[in-house]
Amino acid sequence: MRTRRGASMWDQDTFVSAVGDAVRAPSIHNSQPWRFRRTEGGIEVRVDPARALPATDPDGRAARVSCGAAAANLALSLAVAEAPADVATHAGAVHLTPAVPRPPTPLERRLHWQIWRRHTNRSPFADTAVAAGVTTQLVRQVESDGGWLDLVEDGPDLHALAALTHEADTELRADPRYLAELRAWSTGADQDVEGVGPRAAGATPHPGELMTRRDFGGPGHEGTRDPGRGPVVAVFGVHGDRPADELRAGIVLQRLLLLAADLGLAAALFSQPIEVPAVREQVRLALHRSHDPQLVLRFGYAPSTCFTNRRPPSDVIG
Ligand SMILES: Cc1cc2nc3c(=O)[nH]c(=O)nc-3n(C[C@H](O)[C@H](O)[C@H](O)COP(=O)(O)O)c2cc1C
Repeated sequence: MRTRRGASMWDQDTFVSAVGDAVRAPSIHNSQPWRFRRTEGGIEVRVDPARALPATDPDGRAARVSCGAAAANLALSLAVAEAPADVATHAGAVHLTPAVPRPPTPLERRLHWQIWRRHTNRSPFADTAVAAGVTTQLVRQVESDGGWLDLVEDGPDLHALAALTHEADTELRADPRYLAELRAWSTGADQDVEGVGPRAAGATPHPGELMTRRDFGGPGHEGTRDPGRGPVVAVFGVHGDRPADELRAGIVLQRLLLLAADLGLAAALFSQPIEVPAVREQVRLALHRSHDPQLVLRFGYAPSTCFTNRRPPSDVIG
């Protein structure tokens, strides 16, 4: 089938292969809350309501960010297959429609290559400083993708953000429903196709760590120490905070994480301060931003740790 601009609709093999890349995206608790469907006009990525986390993510924000991340992978996969997509986010879904065929750009190739290499890294980071030239590349890409990335300076600003992260984590952990969800998604085995297994979980957060990590119940914290001054902490968002913006945030986030991986950086994610509305508002005000922050990240250098698994495309198509 030809579209009005002469682009070909994707065949089933291209679609399934792209979904195989899409599901490598990060998602809250590795819950993989996405479904992919071929439509008359292209491909639709939407949230799978069966995978909701009502205590952790009552409004579905994190699920939408996760779906956006998967859509970013899907678009990169189609681009390197020389069957690129135009991407549009709507309140309930991301829609990909065939664009005029063209070769992939060098950046698309680089980011696509990292889809199977990137992972969340919960191990201690080295003291090695992240050079300003590297963080500038991250900030520039996020901005050209339509988002913002505020680097938090070491000193009072970082300590204030760390205190808010700790406060949010404590508040979340006081809710037995939150703890039950966390347990449900983190007590499986490393080879499970969903959730965060013991190896990916990293060591139990040490009470002395500056940025409170989410406790996925990993092994004891002996030997864990706080990263030194080298890693950078940043807060990420887009210019909007409606459901369609959250899907878009996921797209921008995933491209940021892939670029970070391409630059040799490890990334840790902290969403507790985003999940507690009053804390999220304090983070927004501290940054003088007009829209909600979507995630707190730390970038630095650390050996690769552990890849989590994914459900196969056949489980998420339709
Ligand atoms: C919206 C969102 C929020 C997340 N929040 C956290 C978090 O607070 N702490 C954490 O360790 N990982 C967090 N993650 C990372 C996921 O746990 C991770 O992506 C998932 O387990 C899959 O593993 P991978 O990223 O290594 O592929 C978050 C991911 C997303 C998309």
